[in-house]
Amino acid sequence: MNETQTREVVRLTEAPNPALAHIWEEALLDEGIECRVVGDYLNAGLGDIGSLRPEIWVHEDDLERAREIIAEHEREAAQHRDEEASGAQRMLRSREQTRGFYNKISSFYDSLSDVAEEPIRRAALELLDPQPEERILEIGFGTGRCLVSLARAVGPEGKVSGLDLSEGMIKVAGENLAVSGLTQAVQLQRGDATELPYADGSMDAILMTFTLELFEPGEREKVLKECQRVLGLGGRIVVAGLSKEGEDGILVRAYEWGHQHFPNFLDCRPIRVGQVLANAGFQVSRVERRNIGLPVEIVQADKAQGE
Ligand SMILES: C[S@@+](CC[C@H](N)C(=O)[O-])C[C@H]1O[C@@H](n2cnc3c(N)ncnc32)[C@H](O)[C@@H]1O
Repeated sequence: MNETQTREVVRLTEAPNPALAHIWEEALLDEGIECRVVGDYLNAGLGDIGSLRPEIWVHEDDLERAREIIAEHEREAAQHRDEEASGAQRMLRSREQTRGFYNKISSFYDSLSDVAEEPIRRAALELLDPQPEERILEIGFGTGRCLVSLARAVGPEGKVSGLDLSEGMIKVAGENLAVSGLTQAVQLQRGDATELPYADGSMDAILMTFTLELFEPGEREKVLKECQRVLGLGGRIVVAGLSKEGEDGILVRAYEWGHQHFPNFLDCRPIRVGQVLANAGFQVSRVERRNIGLPVEIVQADKAQGE
C-alpha cells in the first residue's frame, strides 16, 4: 500500500462491557494491530460500568486478522476460566503495581468515582458516627474526602489517622485537607493495610470504603486481623464495599470476570462484606444494602468482646 494512502477504518465489534473492550484492545495492540475503543467508559464510574458497550474499530485491511486474534483470545480466556474452576492459581497484582496504578490515577480519581460512590461514603460515615475526642483510622483513604469529615467530627481533642499505599493519593488528600484548613488535624501515612503501623488498642474506630475488596482472601484476613489488633476495647469498624451478597447477576459476574482477566484495570471484585467481617471475628451490628449499578454493602461491626 502507498504510505500516503488513507486506510479505511471499520467497526470490528462491540464489546459486552468496557473491561472486555480494553482487554481486546490490549490483545490487538500486542499483535501490532492499531485499534480504537470507542465509548466513554472511563468517565462512567463504577455505577455504569456494566451497561456500557464500547465498540472497537480497526483498519479495514486488518479486519480479518483482528477477528482471528479476538477469537483466539476468547478461546484462551475460556481455558483460563476452566483452570480457575479447577483451582489453578491466577496472576496476582503486586503491591508495587497497585501503588503505581493508584499513583497514576490519583489526580483524576475523584472524576472517576465521585458520582456513584460519594453517597456510599456519606452513608458509611453516618454509620460510623464519629464523636468528639475519638481516635479514628481510615485505611485506603484515596483523595481524603472522608478524612475531612472525620477531622471535623472528632474536633481538636480527637485524632484522625489515614493510611494509604499510594503517595499520589497522599498528595491529593493532603491538598484537600489543606483547602479545608485541616492539615494539622490528620496524620497521613504511607503504608500497607496488612501491616498497620499503629499500636495495639490505639483506635476507637476504623473506616474503610471501597478498599477491602482489593485484597485477595488471605490478605483480607490479615487486614482485618490488624484492624482487630489496633482497635481498643469496644472499638468499631465500618466497611463499605462492592458486594456479591444476594446477587448473582450479570453485572457482578461481568465485574468479577474483568477482575480476573484484567486486574490492572479493574482491581477489585465484589465480596460478601458482612460475612467477611463476621469470619474475621467482628460482631456485625448493621448491614445496609445499596445499588450503584453494582450491589454495595455498608457494614458496621464491633470488635469481638474480650479481645
Ligand atoms: C478504590 S480506592 C478507594 C479510596 C477511597 N476510600 C474511596 O472511597 O474513594 C482504594 C484505595 O486503597 C489504597 N490501597 C490499595 N492497596 C492498599 C494497601 N495494601 N494498603 C493501604 N492502602 C491501599 C489505594 O491507594 C486507594 O487509595
